[in-house]
Formats: sequence, C-alpha cells, structure tokens
Amino acid sequence: MSKSPLAAVRGMNDIFPAESARWQRLEHAFREVLRLYGCGEIRLPIVEHSALFARAIGDVTDIVQKEMYTFADRNGDSLTLRPEGTAGVVRALIEHSALRGQTPRLYYIGPMFRHERPQRGRYRQFHQLGVEFFGVAGAGADAEIIALSARLLAAAGVSARLQLNSLGTPASRAEYRALLLDFLRPKASALCGDCQERLERNPLRVLDCKVESCQELAASAPRLLDHLDAESAEHFSLLQDLLRGLGIEYEINPRLVRGLDYYHRTVFEWVAEGLGSQGTVLAGGRYDGLVAQLGGPETPAIGFATGMERLLALTESENKAPAGVELFVGALDETALASAMQKAETLRAQGLTVITGGPAPFKALLKQAQRSAAHYQVVVGADNLQGAEVLLKEQEGTGLWRGPWERIGEGLRSLGVDLPLAGPHTTRQSF
Ligand code: HAM
Repeated sequence: MSKSPLAAVRGMNDIFPAESARWQRLEHAFREVLRLYGCGEIRLPIVEHSALFARAIGDVTDIVQKEMYTFADRNGDSLTLRPEGTAGVVRALIEHSALRGQTPRLYYIGPMFRHERPQRGRYRQFHQLGVEFFGVAGAGADAEIIALSARLLAAAGVSARLQLNSLGTPASRAEYRALLLDFLRPKASALCGDCQERLERNPLRVLDCKVESCQELAASAPRLLDHLDAESAEHFSLLQDLLRGLGIEYEINPRLVRGLDYYHRTVFEWVAEGLGSQGTVLAGGRYDGLVAQLGGPETPAIGFATGMERLLALTESENKAPAGVELFVGALDETALASAMQKAETLRAQGLTVITGGPAPFKALLKQAQRSAAHYQVVVGADNLQGAEVLLKEQEGTGLWRGPWERIGEGLRSLGVDLPLAGPHTTRQSF
C-alpha cells in the first residue's frame, strides 16, 4: 500500500457518490426506525480529553492500551479521536446536567477511530450508529433496546444471530475473576502471547480470544453465568422471557465478555455470516455504573453500536448508481449564458436537478452534457432569449422537443419528466 503523504491514511476510506448514496439510504431507514422508539439524535465532538476514554473504557482494555489516536494539542492537552461513542454521550449528559429527573434515549451516527490492523470489515476510521437509553434499570429496557437493534438490522436487510450473556455486577465478577485466574494460571503456557500478557490484568478476555488453544481452555473454564449474583440471574432470566415473548431468537454465549470495561449484567452481540472474524455487526450491553463513575448521578443505562461499513458490506445493493442528474442546461454563446443560468434556477425551484454548462458551440455542448450524465439537455441560444424556442433532447433516447421556453414543462412531460407542481424551495422553510 502506498505510503505517499498524498494518499489516504491506511485504514481510512474515501466514499464517492455511488457509495455515499447507499450510506444515505441506510441512515434514512435507521432514522425512521429510531423515531419509532422515541430516540433523538445527539451530535458530539469527535475529539475528547484522553482521560475520558481511559476512565470510561478502562485502562487495561486493548482499545485504551493499543488502539487510540492520542495527540497533544497546541496547549499540551492530551486529546484523543473518539474510539467509540458511549463515553462522549455520558460526558455530555453529565456536563449539561441532562440526567436529573430525565430518561433520555439518544442516538449518534459518525466516525470512530481505532488503530487496529485493517482488513475487510475492520478499519481505522469507521462509522457507528450508536443508541443509548438512560435511567432505565429493568430487563424491559434490555428487551426493548434489543428489539430496536433487531428492527435496525431488518431495515438494513442484514440477517444475523443474537448472542447474549450476563456479566453480573462488579462484585460477582470480581469473585468469578479470582476463580478464573486460579483455573488459568497453572495452564498459562498454553495461552497465546496476548492472553499470557494480559492474564493478570484482564483474565476475562481469554474467554473471547479467537486463538484455538485459548478457546479450548476457555471451553473448560468455570462459567461466569454459574456465578451470577441472585439479582443479575433474575434480571437475565426475565430478559430471556421477554425476548421469547417478542419472538426474538437468541443463543446464550457464556464466553461473550466484550472489549470495554464498563459493562454490567446484560451484554449482547449480533453476529452475521460472510465477514469472517469481523462478523459482529452490532454489539452492546448494560453499563449501570458508568455515569456515576464519571462523576454523574447514579444512572442505570444500556446501549449498543453497529458498524455501518460492516452492514453495507453485507448488503448487496440492487441500485448502486446515485440518482442521476436530470437536466443539463447549456448556453450556446455568452449572450445566452445569463438566460441559461436563470432558466436553470427556475427549473431547480420546481424541484428538478439541473447542472449548467457552456458557453460552447452546439457539438461541444452535447459532449459536455454527455459527460455530466444528465438525462435530458436543454440548449439555450442567443436567439431564444426573448421566449423563443429551446431545444430539449433526451440523452440516451430519441426524445426531442422544440418549443417556447414558457412551455418547457409540457416538453418535459412529453419526454416523461414529471415536474412537481410547486418547487420545494419556492417558499422559505424554517430549519
Ligand atoms: P464495540 O463492540 O467496540 O462497542 O463496537 C460496536 C460495533 O462497531 C462492532 O460490533 C462493529 O460492528 C463496529 N466496529 C468496531 N470496530 C470497528 C472497526 N475497526 N472497523 C469497522 N467496524 C468496527 C462499542 O463501541 C460500544 N460503544 C457499544 C455500546 C454502546 N455499548 C453500549 N453502548
């Protein structure tokens, strides 16, 4: 891969219109689903103080230890390009005192940054849609957010299997951690290098390591699910009842531990076939302790994020081409240019996509029109300044119409273009 300073940074992608049209359609479909669950969009900075991620995600996680894009800004402050969205959402809610007496349901869509080894479905700049529910402690919220995730995947046209686990409370997990360490320490030499290195710091990660020898050990290790505290066990069992009631199929994966430290109780992942080891298309869980840990009021919370690149890689698009430009309005000479530009504005005010070209001789105009990928071209000449004829020509077809500018709507209709009655921009809109 090129290391030229003028090439894109490895693992970071350019998205051209044919592709970005698919992104827009997916985002639009997602926003519709999110509305059904009462979620509002939050837009946050892409850069945060590094300490936020260390405290929220955990000092001993791979993300914080190896994958963050951290730099000193000109004041010497340590800043980090966000590797995920949850920490920033929690930071914003605390900073704006937006949690007292309120139970926000928020979503965000945007780029995240992790210095991972790039491969299909894994990038250094990637995009997540994330959803977070705050102030909801019961298993009902877990079931509702999982139902929402299922609906999002259905809207994306992705089929995936739901895996579930419960990590219990920090206290029950600490007890389990001690048990797991007792089990793993004598067998440490059978673990992969990474797991040997993080064994004492973060033994739970051995459970979801992809290396075969680690998987074999993990299969016979004590199970976290057998060591849950009573309340977590009850929560997990109620969640399963609710999911069955909703007709959402799931598998329990006792080795699902997730790579971020803030989770309590429920964790889940939707895994699709077809992306190899990068098959997790959507993942999340409950993080009841995080808000208080970052200095806010005690607030239970649950959320997830889905990787947009992974979803788009899994869905074949029937129609990759962006909606084409409809009209090319070209001026034959300099005198006609102002008129051509005005005519283009009139057509745009009626809702048509128009690009302009010229001044140029007739043949050159036709060439420009072809290169523009417009479906129809309007040729405006000096002689039709005063409402005289314009020529309307179908690019890839035989349609041709000649007539006065005033009747161009009729001409377009005769060629199959529907002019909306009133343009979207004829009246002032408020945003
Ligand atoms: P995560 O599991 O780190 O969780 O990421 C969520 C999803 O983002 C993954 O399942 C995957 O689809 C996508 N993803 C992650 N890394 C990459 C990458 N390098 N390239 C492409 N896609 C990637 C979180 O980020 C949590 N904040 C989710 C959450 C929200 N939990 C509670 N609330």
